[in-house]
Amino acid sequence: MNIQRLEPKHAEAYRALMLEAYATHPNAFTSSAGERSALPFAWWQGRLDENPAAGQVVFGVLQGGRLCGVAGLSFETREKARHKATLFGMYVPAAQRGLGLGRRLVSAALEYARSRPGVRLVQLTVTEGSAVAEALYARCGFVAFGVEPMAMAVEGGFVSKVHMWSALAAEAV
Ligand SMILES: CC(C)(COP(=O)(O)OP(=O)(O)OC[C@H]1O[C@@H](n2cnc3c(N)ncnc32)[C@H](O)[C@@H]1OP(=O)(O)O)[C@@H](O)C(=O)NCCC(=O)NCCS
Repeated sequence: MNIQRLEPKHAEAYRALMLEAYATHPNAFTSSAGERSALPFAWWQGRLDENPAAGQVVFGVLQGGRLCGVAGLSFETREKARHKATLFGMYVPAAQRGLGLGRRLVSAALEYARSRPGVRLVQLTVTEGSAVAEALYARCGFVAFGVEPMAMAVEGGFVSKVHMWSALAAEAV
């Protein structure tokens, strides 16, 4: 098993995995399967841009050439917010859960964030009530700092999002 930064050549597998994620866990992701399936293939390739200073990067678990889990990181470009990165699009398919892949993906993302000049913290949001995901983030060092009410409109109503953050170094705050 290998965790690596995905490249444009992985776009087809990445697209398929994320469309599965949006369809099977509509309350976990703000994007919907319908919206994302309508995007051109170039959008998915662009998200896997290999540039060292790319605005977003995606890490994937590859097992025998098969993509078994993903997590993304995006970076702020505005001068006053360049110290912040956001973890997004974390998904491990049901058959691969509980094997530590999620934890390894978060670790890979945090390690990469530390390597980017000037980045001091990583933030994320997790749907309130997603106990496994929230506990996983907490074990990886994320701390909740607020709950956003009515963060997403989903079938049957609205759900809130817990906002979490992790400082990348002790001297960051
Ligand atoms: C959240 C998710 C990525 C976790 O992936 P995973 O590969 O199963 O995570 P891990 O195997 O690293 O497990 C992390 C921890 O959760 C625990 N865990 C995993 N599945 C669990 C379950 N069903 N019930 C209770 N605990 C569970 C593990 O024991 C592990 O604990 P530990 O670190 O103390 O050993 C995965 O469940 C998922 O994709 N869920 C649907 C999409 C989603 O919610 N994404 C997050 C959006 S914010």
